[in-house]
This record gives sequence, C-alpha cells and structure tokens, in this order.
Amino acid sequence: MTTLIINIKELLGTREQSVLLRGEALAILPSIENAFILVEDGLIVDYGAMTELDIKVPNKPTVILDVAGQMVLPAWCDSHTHLVFAKSREDEFVDKLKGKSYADIAANGGGILNSARVLNDTSEETLFQQAMVRLKEASLMGTGAIEIKSGYGLSVEGELKMLRVIKRLKQQSDLCIKSSFLAAHTFPPAYKENHEGYINSIIFEMLPVIAAEKLADYIDVFCEEGFFSVEEMETICKAGAAYGLKPKLHVNQLNSIGGVAAGIGLGAISLDHLETMTNKDIKELAISDTIGTLLPTAAFFLRMNYQPARQLIDAGAAIALASDYNPGSSPSANMNFVVALSCIQMKLLPEEAINAATINGAAAMELMDEVGSISIGKKANLIFTKPIPSIAYLPYSFGHHLIDKIMINGIFV
Ligand code: NIG
Ligand code: FE
Repeated sequence: MTTLIINIKELLGTREQSVLLRGEALAILPSIENAFILVEDGLIVDYGAMTELDIKVPNKPTVILDVAGQMVLPAWCDSHTHLVFAKSREDEFVDKLKGKSYADIAANGGGILNSARVLNDTSEETLFQQAMVRLKEASLMGTGAIEIKSGYGLSVEGELKMLRVIKRLKQQSDLCIKSSFLAAHTFPPAYKENHEGYINSIIFEMLPVIAAEKLADYIDVFCEEGFFSVEEMETICKAGAAYGLKPKLHVNQLNSIGGVAAGIGLGAISLDHLETMTNKDIKELAISDTIGTLLPTAAFFLRMNYQPARQLIDAGAAIALASDYNPGSSPSANMNFVVALSCIQMKLLPEEAINAATINGAAAMELMDEVGSISIGKKANLIFTKPIPSIAYLPYSFGHHLIDKIMINGIFV
C-alpha cells in the first residue's frame, strides 16, 4: 500500500545519514517546510519540498492525504522501560504522600519486591494482555520503538516468564521492540544474605535458557549501594557477554560508586539514570562511545535532582531521553512529557530534546538503521501534530494533547 502525505507544514528530523548526535550537533534538527512524504509498504520511500513533488513523484498513488497545518516528526524511540508489570503501585504512592519513607515501604515488602511478588503470582497470558494494552497506550502517545526490561521476576520462572511475554510482544505488536534481561534488579529475600547464590542462579540457571530461546537483546544490572556492587555488575555482564548480550545498565541514580567507568569498560550501549554524576563521571562518559540515557520523569516522580543534562551535552556526551515507564518510579509512558520536562527542568533546547528522544534513542537500542528519523528506507513511524505555531510549542505547552494522529509501519494507529 502506498500513501502520499502532502502539505506538511514542517517535516522534522529529515536525515540522509543517521549518526549518533553529541555536542552542538544535538541542537540541529534538520527539517523541510511545506513538505511531502511518500510511504510504501510501511517504509519511507521519498520525501521533500512540495515544490519538488511533481518531479519526485510523477505517478501519484490513489491514497493522498492532505495534512495542511500539521507538523510531522519521527515517532519517539523510548529506550528504557519496565512496561511488563503485574500491578500498579499507587497505594505506595499515597503512603509516601502521607509521610512514609522509601525505607519504610521497602521494609514492609514494598517497592520492587512488591512488584515481584505479584508478578510471580500472575499468569504469562495476563501479563501479556496487560502489557499489550500499555504498548497501545504508548503508541497512541507517539512511541514507535521501545525497549522493555525484565526484573520483576527475580526468580528463574518469573524472569523467564517476563522475557517470554516480551518476546510475544515483539511478535504481535507493530512497534519495534528490544528486550533487556534485568534479573539483577534487586536481591530477592531468599538471597538477601547470599548474593553469590542469586548471581549463580542468574548465570547458570537463567542465562543459558535466555540464550537458547533468544529471549533478550541486552543485559541490565541495577548498580547502586544496597543493590548490586560494581564487582557484581561486572561478573553478571561478563557472563551475559559470553552469550552475546551487551550491557545497558542502571547506574548513578542514587550514588556514584564507579558504575560509569565500569559500564564503559564493559562496552555498555547505554548507561541509564545518571541523576548523581561527579565531574569525573561526566568526563569519562563524554569521551566514550556509551550513550547516557536520561530519565527525567523518574527524578520528577521521586522528587530528586534532575540529571546534569547541560553539563553532559556541553562536555560532548551522547545523550538519549527515555520514560523509564515502571510502577514504582515513573508510572508514565508519555514521551511528550519526558521531552517537555527535559526542556523545562534540564534546559535542553526543543531540538536537542527531540533528537535525544528520537535518533539518539534509536541508537540506544541499536535501531538507528530502522527508526528515529525521516530517512529513505526507514520505517514510516510518524507523529502528526495538531496545528501548532512552531516545534518549540511542543515542550512549551506541556501536558496538552498536541498529537493529531500516529502512524506506525505506514498504518495509522
Ligand atoms: O529504573 N531504579 C531501579 N528500577 C526502576 C524502579 C523500579 C521500581 O521501583 O519498581 C527504575 O527507576
Ligand atoms: Fe529503569
């Protein structure tokens, strides 16, 4: 099926070459005013200015869509989520509003362990159905590619169940999906005093099955004081590497304990969170090939300091933006709000935020050849805005519903 979309007020993120953006390049969002885009069998096959239309597309297809006044940009690439979970945790949220601390909640079996308990009691089918609904919601908010983690199983059966759910989502959803194995999210109660035992279970019981069933693309570890140490992260990632799993890691959310340097040393595709960064961490990340994935809605929800985005960009680090969608620290998959918040609170320019949430997000999932920009041959994953005066209006008018429609693989959602 071929669709010609004409009279686009501005077509944003047009790129002949897709490269990871860093430094000043992050602020450059190439665009064409008064543009067209031609979509065939789910892919972008041509685009350009309306003045070139008759030359570039001499034979017009039967389906022509006039979107006068609308802007079109690549769909969001959300490179860090925990979208598969069994139950929301608004009860803990209210307890915290009433004054309970995170430690109180954790001591009562709350937090990640709460999610793990419920998940282990929930069937694969139910988890799949719930996750499919959330994926649909995310796509209606403009997300076209997404990474999803395990990490609420914390048992052999639970982790494999989560990853099998993600595999089914990959097969049945139109979105581009990558999966990460995060059994090292926290230590389950039975292994609280026996870290080696749990790590052995990850390495010898979970990883071989994951590799045999091709259940994960990446390996993740929550490297923080009170969770996994740098050494434990290295042990787990090296075992993952033996099965071809590259690391995408949770580091420096709460403390700077050496996770950045170690993650870079392990060849991590991305290091995610980064609320707590020393100058040394920033410098090391800036000169590396590893992407820093910032999760500002987690900082917002937990009332923490935001990530030092400006320092990272100015130092030359490659950054991406993601939602961290999960029931505990970021119960929202809304990338529009992530983009707005990063401008409002971290002083990203609108162009920087959009690039970080599209092309650099795609890079953080190694999907730069498929999504993240308006390029010939890439998937037609597109956001059509309502009539807006300029692209800066998107983060400026935060919380407003400014999307008119979403196209995924050439089909309107
Ligand atoms: O990325 N920080 C670790 N994991 C999640 C939160 C998990 C939870 O509270 O359920 C995060 O923020
Ligand atoms: Fe996370």
